[in-house]
Amino acid sequence: MKTRVLTGITTTGTPHLGNYVGAIRPAVAASRRDDVDAFYFMADYHALIKSDDPARIERSRLEIAATWLAAGLDPQKVTFYRQSDIPEIPELTWFLTCVTAKGLLNRAHAYKAAVDKNTEAGEDADAGVTAGLYMYPVLMAADILAFNANKVPVGRDQIQHIEMARDIAQRFNHIYGRDFFVLPEVVIEEQVATLPGLDGRKMSKSYDNTIPLFAGGQKHLRETIMRIVTDSRLPGEAKDPDSSSLFTIFRAFASEAESAAFRQALVDGIGWGEAKQVLFERIEVDVAPMRESYDALIARPGVIEEILHEGAKKARAIAAPKIAELRDAIGLRSGVSIAPQATAKAAPKSGKSPRFASFRDGDGSFRFRLFSADGEELLLSRSFADPKAAGVLQKRIKELGAAAAVVQSQSSALVLELDGEPVASTPVFDDEQARDAALTRLRGALDQLAAQE
Ligand code: TRP
Repeated sequence: MKTRVLTGITTTGTPHLGNYVGAIRPAVAASRRDDVDAFYFMADYHALIKSDDPARIERSRLEIAATWLAAGLDPQKVTFYRQSDIPEIPELTWFLTCVTAKGLLNRAHAYKAAVDKNTEAGEDADAGVTAGLYMYPVLMAADILAFNANKVPVGRDQIQHIEMARDIAQRFNHIYGRDFFVLPEVVIEEQVATLPGLDGRKMSKSYDNTIPLFAGGQKHLRETIMRIVTDSRLPGEAKDPDSSSLFTIFRAFASEAESAAFRQALVDGIGWGEAKQVLFERIEVDVAPMRESYDALIARPGVIEEILHEGAKKARAIAAPKIAELRDAIGLRSGVSIAPQATAKAAPKSGKSPRFASFRDGDGSFRFRLFSADGEELLLSRSFADPKAAGVLQKRIKELGAAAAVVQSQSSALVLELDGEPVASTPVFDDEQARDAALTRLRGALDQLAAQE
């Protein structure tokens, strides 16, 4: 079983070294593991909460996407997309909103901080606070729950949001009486210390103390490193590595042996200017090759958009059937096809018809589901290495018709056979009665499909 790992990056600002070391680099490394099915996305709906500057949002999206790709992310292996290309996410946000306790959101750190600041300033508690900021944790829960993510790697400031996502998921599962959602677990990379910024505080765009990763090129990287605040010890005086931002940043890039050598140089009294040059050169070893791919990508935004678009297709193939299932469960059945690859074929007179939704499984294989006109999941196909073979099976199921269908009962589920081989099965039912009722609906759907051909 692969573990589904999902994380989002808010598209404001320009990626800095802290983002790279704390989020991007470990995420790219994790995505290469065979036991990981990674979902990484541009959280541009979240960005709207922080910025109302369209040009900045747009620019930041391209920069961040290019950064992740340049950092070695393989969009073939990873599902890499932007949040706003997935309409199922805002839809799920609303479903979750309706089960989320307002009191839970009152306790969110970001919201509370804004309220505290207002109160201190003698202002109205909610002055300048948008409902977007207030709802931020619910949107984030939808990002995670739409894909049944198992693990969510984030920075420490986001731990509470993952806990809230679990809370909200549990509440939904409880209210609607089934385990619709997997409960996500937070992952904090323990080894990667948060990098200090120029002033020694945590490197963060909100402190305006960042060292850019690619922006401004090599020259700007060097200039910024030269501005890192140090103490006033002169060359020849021993420096304390453990209280030095330079050393902390160096260590985030270097091997044990390199770090030991740098530590020694500081203790031996290397001048701060020279130490900064050493740091710059060590960072360049890693960053220079990535910067080259970054510049090439930024010069061709169409390529980036295309990659994100492909990613969105993969993501929707999972989110769409999930939302269809939820709509059904909460009493919002819809005849409108929300499958990502809605076919051009004219719908039958009623406007409602069964439909297929294809998706890629965790192991990269191709499968599909058949949904009834009401959005009930009727069948889940077996997996295929070749998408064409899955397509052929869909076509045969379409033409089959109820009379020709061979359906076997297998304990509490039904299995559709073709040429004597099991090719698809229904969900597991609570009892035989439910199973038999489902058989009637399955046969009805097969007849409806055959009538369209
Ligand atoms: N809020 C996260 C941050 O600022 C970004 C984010 C949005 C996210 N949606 C997510 C992270 C879902 C993990 C999962 O860092």
